[in-house]
Amino acid sequence: MDFKEIIRVIPDFPQAGISFKDITTLLMDGGAYHQAIDALRERVAHLQIDLIAGPEARGFVIGAPLAYALGVGFIPIRKSGKLPYETIEVGYDLEYGKDRLAMHTDAVRPGQNVLIADDLLATGGTISTAVNLVRQLGGNVVGAAFLIELEELNGRAKLPDVEIISLLSYD
Ligand code: PRP
Repeated sequence: MDFKEIIRVIPDFPQAGISFKDITTLLMDGGAYHQAIDALRERVAHLQIDLIAGPEARGFVIGAPLAYALGVGFIPIRKSGKLPYETIEVGYDLEYGKDRLAMHTDAVRPGQNVLIADDLLATGGTISTAVNLVRQLGGNVVGAAFLIELEELNGRAKLPDVEIISLLSYD
């Protein structure tokens, strides 16, 4: 299946010069969504995974079904102020803006193998923050899986020691 034909590209959103990859058109196509998650499952099959961590919000729609398909647990990484229990937080820069991400302090136990999953790798700021949070709790980051990688932003260079898996690349 050619997923790129299904993902809609919106020029100049949310600001001039950004070519937004709108995955809602893939998510609303049941067959395409299913195949995309299955393809990611195959691409991470060689990894030992105890848990998947996905950053809010689009990381949930990739990470949670992938966790279900693999039969492992899912950890939500949320924007600051959303999680009800004790958290650790890390600030980060986005492709367009700044934010803070948080994780429950008991989400990962030391030594657990964690795969980070998200829809998109752009500058790598989000994924670096997710890796930082997991490692602060003693988790072992075994890889990071994405539906889409924006190659020109070279986000993977921020994490030379993490295996980066992406289904689709855009220039
Ligand atoms: C988007 C996307 C990734 C991140 C990628 O999320 O879903 O998480 O940006 O960019 P980066 O590699 O430059 O960090 P966003 O923060 O826009 O939040 P959303 O999923 O809630 O829309």
